[in-house]
Amino acid sequence: MDWFRLDSKVAVVTGGSRGIGLAIADGLARAGAHVVLVARGEDQLADAVNSIVTAGGSAESIVLDVLDIAAGQQMIADVIARRGRLDILVNNAGMNIRTPSTDVPPEDFDRILAVNLRAPFFLCQAAGRHMVSVQRGKIINIASLSSFIGLRKIVSYASSKGALVQMTRTLSAEWARDNVQVNAIAPGFIRTDLNRKLWDDEAVLSWVIGNTPAGRLGTPEDLVGAALFLASPASDFVTGHVLAVDGGFLSGGTWPL
Ligand SMILES: NC(=O)c1ccc[n+]([C@@H]2O[C@H](COP(=O)([O-])OP(=O)(O)OC[C@H]3O[C@@H](n4cnc5c(N)ncnc54)[C@H](OP(=O)(O)O)[C@@H]3O)[C@@H](O)[C@H]2O)c1
Repeated sequence: MDWFRLDSKVAVVTGGSRGIGLAIADGLARAGAHVVLVARGEDQLADAVNSIVTAGGSAESIVLDVLDIAAGQQMIADVIARRGRLDILVNNAGMNIRTPSTDVPPEDFDRILAVNLRAPFFLCQAAGRHMVSVQRGKIINIASLSSFIGLRKIVSYASSKGALVQMTRTLSAEWARDNVQVNAIAPGFIRTDLNRKLWDDEAVLSWVIGNTPAGRLGTPEDLVGAALFLASPASDFVTGHVLAVDGGFLSGGTWPL
């Protein structure tokens, strides 16, 4: 048994054009999967596909705004029709806007919930219908530390990521007997475009480093092992789990001794 091989598998990775999504897609491709990268920016998608193919992987891209639920569900149907299967869905596309809770406009709250929660659910639904029918599948939702702890000025984001974890648990229970595993990864503080400005602020950076037992920011590549585990036969009896990849932030305490 090749516990971590994904040969002949097909994976859809939303937000696969950069950052955490690209690192995960590259990791799945290196394990043998054909990866379908989904995002809005065409040029960055093309570069991402190129980098995976150059490394010997198999990849294609689809330009899509996950806010369009019908188009997202059609994308899943098209992949299944074209490739004959869909084994892995990684709901990674996400966004954040930092605002004090007293000032959050309704349209920002709605947009963040729509990208981070509504879109992943309806992609899970489309993928899940197929996976249940073939009695096999892996879904990985990218959650956050803010699924578990309250951090100031990100109330919409934290609400979406907290709910994403409950959605993951609910779907995992519903589809467990159909051999479809639904899990989440909670990344810690990772250096990507999403929060690049934060790491340019010395005070924020030193707070993160001081409060992360591993003593450093994460990189997108730090997420690959967890994603590979949850996408592969190695995790066939693991479902409804949230795997923190956070350098110990959630479980560790920092103290001066
Ligand atoms: N970085 C961290 O420290 C951290 C920590 C915890 C959780 N996360 C989560 O990890 C995931 C990836 O974050 P990241 O840091 O890698 O972010 P990133 O570098 O900003 O990448 C976001 C990806 O999502 C795509 N995307 C955004 N909105 C989209 C939309 N409406 N439709 C389709 N694609 C869309 C982007 O491409 P386009 O802009 O071209 O569409 C891009 O490929 C997110 O869910 C985030 O919440 C990140």
